[in-house]
Amino acid sequence: MRDYIIKDIGLAEAGEQRIEWSRRHMPVLQKIREQFEKERPLEGINVVACLHVTVETANLIHTLKAGGAGIALTASNPLSTQDDVAAALASEGIKVFAIRGENEEQYYECIEEALKIKPHVTLDDGADTIALIHSKHQDLIRDIKGGCEETTTGVIRLRAMAADGALRYPVIAVNDAETKMMFDNRYGTGQSTVHGIMNATNILFAGKTIVVAGYGWCGRGIASRSRGFGGNVVIVEVEPRKALEAVMDGFRVMPMTEAAKIGDLFITVTGDISVIRKEHFQVMKDQAIVCNSGHFNVEIDIPALAELSNQVNQIKNDVQEYVLKDNRRIYLLAEGRLVNLASAFGHPPEVMDMSFANQALAVRYINEKGKSLENQVYRVPVEIDNRVAKLKLEAMGIEIETLTEEQDRYLHSWTLGT
Ligand code: NAI
Repeated sequence: MRDYIIKDIGLAEAGEQRIEWSRRHMPVLQKIREQFEKERPLEGINVVACLHVTVETANLIHTLKAGGAGIALTASNPLSTQDDVAAALASEGIKVFAIRGENEEQYYECIEEALKIKPHVTLDDGADTIALIHSKHQDLIRDIKGGCEETTTGVIRLRAMAADGALRYPVIAVNDAETKMMFDNRYGTGQSTVHGIMNATNILFAGKTIVVAGYGWCGRGIASRSRGFGGNVVIVEVEPRKALEAVMDGFRVMPMTEAAKIGDLFITVTGDISVIRKEHFQVMKDQAIVCNSGHFNVEIDIPALAELSNQVNQIKNDVQEYVLKDNRRIYLLAEGRLVNLASAFGHPPEVMDMSFANQALAVRYINEKGKSLENQVYRVPVEIDNRVAKLKLEAMGIEIETLTEEQDRYLHSWTLGT
């Protein structure tokens, strides 16, 4: 097994400084790290982590290492790696296989290299490692106690595998923890997506018609942040309750065929395929901007856009200009990949603090309980979710109300009160 595949080990110092900065904004993970250092609950296990290689992930890796785990880290997206972070981790002796901008072949080579560590636990953001193990490396499954999945799209894939009886080890859906979804998906994706678009384009949101496709946790965050910057936000949703919620939250709601005609900026965040496609490009305004913050680069039908175009110009970093046959121009950001990771830093550390605290505690849980679990997708145990919330509040110096004995009895009884 190689020690690392990274861009340049000379970037390590810059990476270390940025990791240290984010560590200061991740107090919950730090608490867990201190506890892991004392108790070493992961002694003797190997973890393959296929996650966005960012400063926040580096702090998760440090926590797992403090717990005694051997680690191989690989990227969960070819465009999200922060090369200085990869260098910093490699210089500490952690096995890292990730280079920003790697092609699809290199991306899978890196996962293959990481799997040589022979994992007992897998961590995924999009289920790529689990999919590869199930299709190509079934010999590894015997020693695997379980896995964790970080994102909505991965959880959907894994639930489908479990329903087909194809999942061969237990997985914890870290994504579904309330202390993950409500903060990371909503506030993290909301802020960082807007940041990514601004970095790539420097456009003014105020006065623009901004179409957000998908009003789930991520979509709610993106919509509220875009409105905060003065955008006129339009929501495209397929699910009636979510669409209704968007209406009551004060947004205009309409199908993409209508929204396509009026939008200046389009952001997809559905986890679905071909949300913006040929018939939509055909009616878009000249100079419309399209981008995606959902997990895979399939939400925008890029081959259809290419088919409609005469020419594609790379006009600046992360901005491609598609010149259509009728001379309209459509701008695609970050090749349709996660714009918040490709064109900005991804989620802020304050929210990743909670997501990765869930990850670290879920790895411990799998190590302790793994073989007694079934080959299913489990929610994060509620005690872990509550503990993360309590630690976060403590770190923020916020005290909350507690139930009196009388209130507790009242709330848990059907015979008291009227
Ligand atoms: P969610 O399930 O809460 O919301 C997705 C919404 O999209 C649902 O309301 C669904 O009805 C809607 N939808 C599905 N197909 C649609 C279509 N064709 N047109 C319009 N709406 C459609 O999921 P969540 O948590 O909001 O995640 C969405 C995506 O973002 C997933 O792929 C997830 O993996 C990804 N994600 C990305 C992050 C990032 O850093 N950019 C962070 C967290 C999640």
